[in-house]
Amino acid sequence: MSRLTLCDESGKVLEEITDFEDIARKLSEIGVLFERWEPKVALSREDDEERVMEAFKEDIDRLTQEFGFKSCDVVSLTPDSPKKEELRQKFLEEHTHSDFEVRYFVYGDGVFYLHPNDKVYIVHCEGGDLISVPPNTPHWFDMGSSPDFKCIRLFTTPEGWVAQYTGSDIAKRFPKYEEIVQIG
Ligand SMILES: [Fe+2]
Repeated sequence: MSRLTLCDESGKVLEEITDFEDIARKLSEIGVLFERWEPKVALSREDDEERVMEAFKEDIDRLTQEFGFKSCDVVSLTPDSPKKEELRQKFLEEHTHSDFEVRYFVYGDGVFYLHPNDKVYIVHCEGGDLISVPPNTPHWFDMGSSPDFKCIRLFTTPEGWVAQYTGSDIAKRFPKYEEIVQIG
């Protein structure tokens, strides 16, 4: 189940929310989109990028019109990927980017940690969930040690984004993917 855990900066849990509408409402307060999309055709794990995009065309077009996205792609990662640890580490430290980060989980899951103010919003996203990270909002992401997901990514710049690391070690004080998923 998708879950939002709201913490203070020391990692102390302040609130846990599992109702989808309540999560969406709470996240909208910090400018974060949280939506649930349904594919227009039945999808299998093996479907290529074109078919995945076709299945979500209406939603992709709607957000593209609203926010002016310039490009869109589909990425997936499996537990046997040789690069999984390298990729995990890349997103595990707090960073920002000027691009508006948008991810839709076609299947699989991941944990976003958003740090827009003196609180940390831990969002466990699952298949069917779309989440955005507003520009310049400190955040990090954990896919776990055995990642298995497929995501649609939307970009406002053709080159995608470049992460600026904040240099903070805050991510080390927070539970990793495995612990978050266990709670849920
Ligand atoms: Fe990011």
